[in-house]
Amino acid sequence: MNLPNLKEAKIRTKEQIKIIHDDYKVPTKMKTIGKNKKYFIKTYGCQMNVHDSENIKAILEDMNFTETFEMENADIILLNTCAIRENAHNKLFGFLGRVKHLKENNPDIICVICGCMSQEESVVNDIKSKYKWVDIVFGTHNLHKFPNILEEFLSKKSQEIEVFSIEGNVYENIPVKRDSKYKAWVNIMYGCDKFCTYCIVPYTRGKQRSRRPLDIISEVESLVNDGYKEVTLLGQNVNAYGKDLKIEYTMTNLLEDVAKTGIDRIRFVTSHPWDFNDEMIDVIAKYPNIMPYIHLPLQSGSNKILKLMGRRYTKEQYIELFNKIKEKVKGVAITTDIIVAFPGETEQDFNDTLDVVNTCKFDSAFTFIFSPRVGTPAAKMKNNLTEKEKNNRLYKLNELINKYALEKNKEYLGKTVKVLLEDFSEKDGKLMGYTDTMKLINVKADKKYLGKIVDVKITDVKTWSMDGKIDKRV
Ligand code: 5AD
Ligand code: SF4
Repeated sequence: MNLPNLKEAKIRTKEQIKIIHDDYKVPTKMKTIGKNKKYFIKTYGCQMNVHDSENIKAILEDMNFTETFEMENADIILLNTCAIRENAHNKLFGFLGRVKHLKENNPDIICVICGCMSQEESVVNDIKSKYKWVDIVFGTHNLHKFPNILEEFLSKKSQEIEVFSIEGNVYENIPVKRDSKYKAWVNIMYGCDKFCTYCIVPYTRGKQRSRRPLDIISEVESLVNDGYKEVTLLGQNVNAYGKDLKIEYTMTNLLEDVAKTGIDRIRFVTSHPWDFNDEMIDVIAKYPNIMPYIHLPLQSGSNKILKLMGRRYTKEQYIELFNKIKEKVKGVAITTDIIVAFPGETEQDFNDTLDVVNTCKFDSAFTFIFSPRVGTPAAKMKNNLTEKEKNNRLYKLNELINKYALEKNKEYLGKTVKVLLEDFSEKDGKLMGYTDTMKLINVKADKKYLGKIVDVKITDVKTWSMDGKIDKRV
């Protein structure tokens, strides 16, 4: 048993990161363990977790399990968790109630918890004492070891907790079962060293570790060969890519090299304004296959709060960067993340945030009420706001964000734009996909267009999506 440890999770040493190519192996005994058995996986949280689940699925299939989308039919149930806010916790514990009920009828079902919440000391202590029926807990640093962990559990049949609070390494050659045939997530780095005062990620995901450029490029090249149209380069703080490598190679170099693979569309998330430099903007502007879409978290528009958050920029610097990107990258869409009700946020601080929103007129935004995360500095800061005040601020901010989102979308009405049609829409008889600028479009079109980048004329716009029809004139 290995339990998470908050103190150890904070440590950052100068130790060189190891790139390990041969650590993933399925023990012979485990190769057929999943024969005639089904797995169900539920994923919470960000794209990083979605991609981790794609790895976990492939690992399970290497052990001969097959996927089911109905939890009731599963022999093994995995919950890949998120720790970013309290409501992610609540969702997990709510869901565990359903799993417990299934296990009461069939005690052979194996219940596994993995992902960011597994890295939290308080959560794992709770699981150990109050959720003894949960079979396996593993963390973000050892998902490639899942076959070994499962083997250990099956031999002992007692709760198996294997979580490491380490800086971490980079593991290559972990198999992947991608959810889409057209769009792929590609990790370029793991972890984060920014330690924004509200954020749990540096503790749950470890030190910033960049993958080697060649490993990334060859992954993208093989995706091109397999017919993929789009890659999204993933990291908590992608602009800092390469800073931990022993060679002179930055995010700008990486974007340029990925662009040269010829893949149709390149996206990247998430950017931190701190590391966003001019060379990077120039490369985004230069290559047509780097999409004109940037997610640039603001977090707050108050300099006092930004300082308390440890964000390392002022609202003026943010706006300057924002304007520079708008100026240089033609037609760019910029979205953001904003937290309201951070400890110490006064009405004036909140109004400063609204001011920045009025200045930038974001294409869209993810907005959150500050949620204290155990172990982070902000969790110890005093917060005098009532729940009602917090909700009022969120409501007011959302009203403004939605107003600008609709305004931006209206600019598309009647225009013809490129859309990668990637899936069936929830609406009958429609396909869905995204524009270069990451606008969600529903299109009434034959399924032969699936996986194709097509010209779509926008016929109707709403706040969160638009409707269109294939434009055959182009
Ligand atoms: N409370 C509220 N929102 C948070 N985020 C990160 N940590 C917290 C927290 N403790 C938000 C930030 C980040 C996004 C992924 O989640 O806005 O950019
Ligand atoms: Fe969290 Fe992003 Fe700040 Fe890293 S840069 S600590 S992931 S908010």
